[in-house]
Amino acid sequence: MLYAVLTKESANRVYADSASRLLAAELAAIARYFSFAVTDIEVTNLGGVDYVTFGGGELDDQDRFIVSNLSGTRAVFTLKGDALYPLDLKTLEWFDDDLITIQRYSGKTNEQFTHMLLNLTLAESTAAHERAANEDQVHLLDPVAGRGSTLNRALVYGFDASGIELTDKDVEHYRTFITTYLKGHRVKHKTTSERFRKGDLAGASAFDVDIDRGRQNLRMACGDTSKAKELMPGQNFDLIVGDLPYGVRHTATAKSARRSPLELVQGAAHAWHSVLVRGGAIGLAWNLKTMTREQVSAALAAAGFTIIDHPRSFEHVVDRAITRDLIVATRRR
Ligand SMILES: C[S@@+](CC[C@H](N)C(=O)[O-])C[C@H]1O[C@@H](n2cnc3c(N)ncnc32)[C@H](O)[C@@H]1O
Repeated sequence: MLYAVLTKESANRVYADSASRLLAAELAAIARYFSFAVTDIEVTNLGGVDYVTFGGGELDDQDRFIVSNLSGTRAVFTLKGDALYPLDLKTLEWFDDDLITIQRYSGKTNEQFTHMLLNLTLAESTAAHERAANEDQVHLLDPVAGRGSTLNRALVYGFDASGIELTDKDVEHYRTFITTYLKGHRVKHKTTSERFRKGDLAGASAFDVDIDRGRQNLRMACGDTSKAKELMPGQNFDLIVGDLPYGVRHTATAKSARRSPLELVQGAAHAWHSVLVRGGAIGLAWNLKTMTREQVSAALAAAGFTIIDHPRSFEHVVDRAITRDLIVATRRR
């Protein structure tokens, strides 16, 4: 059998130029979960439009689920000769897509890229797979959460989501957004707030949202990510997914915000390791113009993480100042 995946139109033109290649790389990284050996993954132009094509056996329900939930999938077809036959998609959506798309702000991580980074991290987290198989809640942490794009993607997947963000303005924006969204969509929820008063955490704050009577939990803490354990007391995560600061803008004035992205990873990697369960996985994206792949790998390895080797590169140009890459690593011990 031959299949063709039509890539989503991306809002960001530069990302769109790389979208099909990145989708092919994502598929190659996840291909081992299919019920058959996936072959010949490539970008193919059919009638002037790019598709990601691949070969293999008949898609079963699980295969259809995987291909439907790839970050760039717009539509999936079987390809016979020159003809495309559409297949029904099976997307995992606990919330409408508008949870992902409504927010618009400068510094927002591309939605499709966020989705891909989460998928790649999920693929390496045996802990998350075991939880999902037992119908237990998967728990994700974004340690550099901004205004919550990763948290929203995690909520759409039905996960519990927690975020840590240094800038209080971003945390406030996200609180307003998510509570307004839940209210507008008539989803029952209860929000509670706390402020840390003593010790290292003095001045830090957090809010929690109980969504639909415990169906999902959301927590956002305002503080330094190197204090992940203290900001998320008693919590462990199956996934850590974050888009690191790009080191190109310096709006925040706090000393901790002026650290370079490498200093940030070096200073926080042990804390991230300590809140990730065994069998959990971490996925980080960063600007290659601020640090090399070797530097990120070394910082994560020094904290006890095992780096995953992907079959294809995810490096891509975002703009003149940013060439982005990603890395996934696991906690084995
Ligand atoms: C690239 S942005 C993340 C954007 C986010 N994915 C979104 O779409 O809203 C990186 C974030 O890391 C935050 N940050 C920088 N240093 C931090 C630290 N030490 N602890 C927590 N957050 C930090 C920055 O304030 C920034 O919001």
